[in-house]
Amino acid sequence: MQASAPGQPADNTVIGDSPTWQALFERARRGEVIPPPFADIKITDPERVVTLAQRWRAAVDVPDATLPDLRQTMRGEAERATFVRAWPGQSARELLVQMCGQCHNGRSDPSLSKRNFDVFGLDDLSAAQRDLIVDRLRRPAEDRYRMPPTFLRALTDDEVALVERFLSDDR
Ligand code: HEC
Repeated sequence: MQASAPGQPADNTVIGDSPTWQALFERARRGEVIPPPFADIKITDPERVVTLAQRWRAAVDVPDATLPDLRQTMRGEAERATFVRAWPGQSARELLVQMCGQCHNGRSDPSLSKRNFDVFGLDDLSAAQRDLIVDRLRRPAEDRYRMPPTFLRALTDDEVALVERFLSDDR
């Protein structure tokens, strides 16, 4: 890392390169392991830090204000590397594995309801299961049943639409 991005951590404008991390990332995308932390030492975007600091300062004096999410300071590459956002250009199938596979992989306790959805069984989903997935994806961010869970991941509207087309009957 030091050789590929010597300015870090003070200056993270050059992103580091780590074959070890890349191999782990690819495994995570396939749903085999949980996503590794971003390889760079510093993961924030300087402009986003300034913007968020201003929003925090504005919020602290307001009673009951919801404080802005600190992840909003992450640079885009770090968001995608840690699956906060999906890797661009993926198929619906790849999106589901990447964004849902950490929790819906058939490996959890069978008594848990999340086990009902398994990203490795996408070809065997019943119509009811597909409807349930679409229902969860469409719920608003503040809904506790929204999938993927808002505190961890976010899909764009286009990505949700792609997944919905994949799950619809006329795919
Ligand atoms: C961090 C873990 C996590 C991730 C990531 C995640 N889920 Fe979930 N999911 C859960 C948990 C826990 C439950 C059970 C609680 C509930 O029903 O909300 C659940 C339940 C569900 C259910 C209802 C299952 C049933 O039959 O009751 C569906 C459908 C679902 N998730 C779809 C998705 C989709 C689609 C994604 C990705 C876009 C996703 N989830 C990502 C944790 C996760």
